[in-house]
Amino acid sequence: MKGIINPATEEELTQVHEASVEDLDAAVSRASKAFDSWRKVTPADRARLLRRVAGLVEEHGEELARLETQNVGKPISDSRGEVGMVAEVFYYYAGAIDKHLGENIPVEGGVDITFHEPLGVVGSITPWNFPLNIASWKLAPALACGNTCVLKPAEITPLTSLRLGELVLEAGVPEGVVNVVTGSGSLVGQRLVEHPDVAKVAFTGSTQVGAGIMKGAADTIKRVTLELGGKSANIVFADADLDSAATSAGPAVFGNAGQDCCARSRILVQRKAFDRFASLFVEATAKMKVGDPEDNATEMGPLVSADQRDNVASYVDMDVMFAGDVPEGAGYWYPPTILGPISNGSKQAREEIFGPVACLIPFDDEDEAIRIANDTPYGLSGSIWTRDVGRALRVARGVNSGVLSINSNTSVRPSTPFGGMKQSGFGRELGMHALAGYSDIKNVFISTEE
Ligand code: TAP
Repeated sequence: MKGIINPATEEELTQVHEASVEDLDAAVSRASKAFDSWRKVTPADRARLLRRVAGLVEEHGEELARLETQNVGKPISDSRGEVGMVAEVFYYYAGAIDKHLGENIPVEGGVDITFHEPLGVVGSITPWNFPLNIASWKLAPALACGNTCVLKPAEITPLTSLRLGELVLEAGVPEGVVNVVTGSGSLVGQRLVEHPDVAKVAFTGSTQVGAGIMKGAADTIKRVTLELGGKSANIVFADADLDSAATSAGPAVFGNAGQDCCARSRILVQRKAFDRFASLFVEATAKMKVGDPEDNATEMGPLVSADQRDNVASYVDMDVMFAGDVPEGAGYWYPPTILGPISNGSKQAREEIFGPVACLIPFDDEDEAIRIANDTPYGLSGSIWTRDVGRALRVARGVNSGVLSINSNTSVRPSTPFGGMKQSGFGRELGMHALAGYSDIKNVFISTEE
């Protein structure tokens, strides 16, 4: 058994089974058996079941939000928002099932049609920062396409995934269609990646582990989608609404205590507006409420573990422009911290810190902003703040990221594609694009010759 810790109190919440390789194999075998019948469930019935899952998530919304907050340490208001999105994602894919259309291709001598076929058993491996949300991004489209699933949540944050598994059963989804296996990545995660009866691995986590997943999946030619790390640029031009840009920059990097693959952790500011932006940003950050994540007013909670806090602290050794306050006593606290002005070549600007540390980097013109934004191995998200529409679109086309926003710092919606370029991974989650990652195309020719 593994003790599950509340990062705000350092107290044990409960203990969870640590699965063995044999447990994982048994789950894959159940999912393989269930696939034969699940793939034949009619689209209307599958949609009905996914809508029921969504309804149960809504009904148990407060319970799920509290569980997520206690296990991950994120503010309860954030957890409520995330649980709301989980329900939306299940509703979205319930509605997508009969809109994932095949084609009728003009050919000589007959009719040519395509089908989207389910893959089989999908292994989903999720990280600790958005456990429930990311589980829904993988389960809902996989089920919609007719696959069965084995979900392996991060070992330290399994509680909402386990509860979701129960709700899926309560909704009437047949046993074996969704299986949740708790255990370590290096043991059961690795086995899931290498298991010959698993057709695809949908992974979200670090770039380093993602590289190992690709290698592990190679021998069995598994389909793989990878949502990996990020070091995204929030580009602020001098002609932007600086008040909005500065107020919004905080949540975009300190949200989830910076443990967010989309964190806009490099804030690129045009030199002529640098001092003004920096003072507005420091002023807004100083007002952030850091503390008990179960308090409705809290904006930032603790980091997920002592290891994570120590790793973040190791980056803060120079150019500290601002560091906030944190509660005293138990809990893995780290203050919202602003570094700057710093160079994009520094390790703070190059590596994913995955904590509440913002790097302020000056630039002079549009070309330099694009060059700095792209000078990173990652390409996940980012923002552009300017009142000049032409410039906004030129920069958006120039920045190599999968998800960008203009005069906004939001990245994620159930209906729009989400995913990375470069070492932030490949494949898209959410929206209709995700369905391509959970189905194969079959082409059938029907002769009309007499
Ligand atoms: P990782 O350490 O990569 O772990 C992610 C998952 O992989 C966990 O469930 C982990 O299990 C498992 N795992 C570890 N080693 C494995 C192996 N050899 N084979 C199979 N599975 C293995 O990431 P993390 O620390 O949980 O999450 C933080 C990272 O995720 C950051 O880099 C962040 O940017 C990224 N992330 C990306 C996105 C998107 S959408 N791009 C979203 C959220 C997070 P255990 O932890 O149980 O060992």
